[in-house]
Amino acid sequence: EDAEKEGYEHFMLKEIHEQPKAIRETLMRRLDDDDQIKLDGISLTLEDLENFNKIYIVACGTAYHAGLVGKYAIEKMARVPVEVDVASEFRYRDPFVDDKTLFIAISQSGETLDTLAALREAKRKGARVLSIVNVVGSSVARESDDVFYTWAGPEIAVASTKAYTTQLVCMYLIALYMGKLKGTISKEYYAEMIAELKAIPEKVEKIIEKAGEVEELAKFLYNRDQVFFIGRGIDSAVAYEGSLKLKEVSYINSFAIAAGELKHGTIALMEPETIVIALASQDRLFDKMYSNIVEVKARLAHVVSIAKEGNTKIEQESTEVIYIPNCADEVTPLLTVIPLQLFAYYVARERDEDIDKPRNLAKSVTVE
Ligand code: G6P
Repeated sequence: EDAEKEGYEHFMLKEIHEQPKAIRETLMRRLDDDDQIKLDGISLTLEDLENFNKIYIVACGTAYHAGLVGKYAIEKMARVPVEVDVASEFRYRDPFVDDKTLFIAISQSGETLDTLAALREAKRKGARVLSIVNVVGSSVARESDDVFYTWAGPEIAVASTKAYTTQLVCMYLIALYMGKLKGTISKEYYAEMIAELKAIPEKVEKIIEKAGEVEELAKFLYNRDQVFFIGRGIDSAVAYEGSLKLKEVSYINSFAIAAGELKHGTIALMEPETIVIALASQDRLFDKMYSNIVEVKARLAHVVSIAKEGNTKIEQESTEVIYIPNCADEVTPLLTVIPLQLFAYYVARERDEDIDKPRNLAKSVTVE
């Protein structure tokens, strides 16, 4: 096992470090020399796309969080309504599925029973099934009409990292493919987004190079008993994933909420020194997010903000700021999640937890 860790103390850290490569691989396998998206055997014609009146994205755990980002991307780029659901809920609520539905299942292992059962239910009702899967030939892959593989390589740590970021890449590729074919995005926008995606691996590397800053923060905060994650828009989707990562490996009680909802309850929990991790990567929503940070800071919370480089205004209201390299708002989840993964990892390490095999959790849940 030590040999497979290639010198890293844990698989989780190794897999965090593998993300630039995994993202690049997942992206490049789907792009031809002219940067056009290759579907290689997947048949999604314009006629098919015009036939779909809605899309369901269904998954569990981290894969579900990738689906939340997928909703933003597909709705923005392909202009079709998308609903995201956890598989265990989808199955039992008699969803509106018929032959005008595209059902997208996301699963690292391809063996999660709830996801598989939801897929079968959707198929039975006539939906077209496309899956995003890491394990080649797994049950979800075999039972889908089409498969979009993530090229993350084997993921050993129970807490998912590189599977998530590669699932995001697939979501962006699907959204861009649909948008381009339907004409809901311009050629210029398509080219801009592909360039943004191609630049991501290097930017992820830059964040990982500064892991020491996150490690220092973890050394200072590891002993707290609760952490809040807030964000708006696509940042809220990443807040859920950051919170899940932290609780999975460190057992700290963490909670994520769309920042605009704070005032409807959760702000009651803010006290001096409460830890709030505030994702503020969206230019479009920056002022609104800034106001939320002011609100929690006024209750003397310890605010760790995550923002794009150069956005120094945020320092006025934050206790600490972690900067990510500049990029388009659409693709920030591929960057903002990295410091959150590192934070969860280093906090758990400070607490001396069994990082790769957290108590009560399984890598793949094959029971209901
Ligand atoms: C388990 C794992 C999670 C994972 C979820 C879904 O709970 O511990 O890391 O996100 O299952 O797994 P899947 O293989 O379907 O992506």
